[in-house]
Amino acid sequence: MNQKSLFIALEGIDGSGTSTHSHLLKGFLESKGFKVHLTTEPTKSDIGNLVRNYLKDKNIPPATDALLFATDRNLHYHNEIKKKLEEGYIVISDRYLESSIVYQSSQSDEITVEWVIEINKFVAQPDITIILDIEPKTALARKEEKEEDFEKFEDDSFLDKVRELYISRANQEGYFVVNSDDIIEFVQEKIQKIILDKL
Ligand code: TMP
Repeated sequence: MNQKSLFIALEGIDGSGTSTHSHLLKGFLESKGFKVHLTTEPTKSDIGNLVRNYLKDKNIPPATDALLFATDRNLHYHNEIKKKLEEGYIVISDRYLESSIVYQSSQSDEITVEWVIEINKFVAQPDITIILDIEPKTALARKEEKEEDFEKFEDDSFLDKVRELYISRANQEGYFVVNSDDIIEFVQEKIQKIILDKL
C-alpha cells in the first residue's frame, strides 16, 4: 500500500465520544493496512499530567489553563506528532488545537480566539478536523463518573457555549461535523467515510 501520512484530530464536547471513536478509527485503518499512531491531549507527559490535575481545580486562572495546554501541545507536536508524520504514519489525535480554541475562549471574555491561536502558532494544523456534535445533557449523561467527580468543564451550560463555538468554527474553517448522538457503529462509519475520501 502506498501510505501517505495524514494528521487527523477528533474534537467535541466532553462525552461526545472522541476517545471511543479515535480507538475505533485506529482499528479500522490498521485493518486496511495503514500504519496508525493514536495519541491524545492532554498528553501523558509531566505537563499533560499537571494540566489534567488542574481540570479538578476551579481556582486555576483561565489564562494559566490556556498557556499550559499550549505548552503541552507544543511538546506533543514537536516531539511526537511531527516525527510520526515524517515516518509516514496516520496520526489520530483525540483532541488537539481546536479544543484550546473553543474551551479556553469560552472560559473567560478576556481570552480571545485570536490569542489562543497566537500562543499555539508553533504547531501545525491537522489535515482533517472532525467535530463530534451532541447535546451537552445527553453527553454528560453518558459519563460513568458521579456528578461530584466531574472535571471543571463538565457542566452543561458551559458545554452549551463550547458546542456553539465548535459549530461556528466548523462553518468558518470547513471542519467536518458528525452527529454523535446515534448508534456508535453509524457514527464511526461516517467518520471512516470522511477519512477514506481523503486517503
Ligand atoms: P478528556 O480527556 O475527557 O477529553 O478531557 C479533557 C478536558 O480538557 C476536556 O474537558 C476538554 C479540556 N481541554 C481543554 O480545555 N483545552 C485543551 O486544549 C484540551 C486538549 C482539552
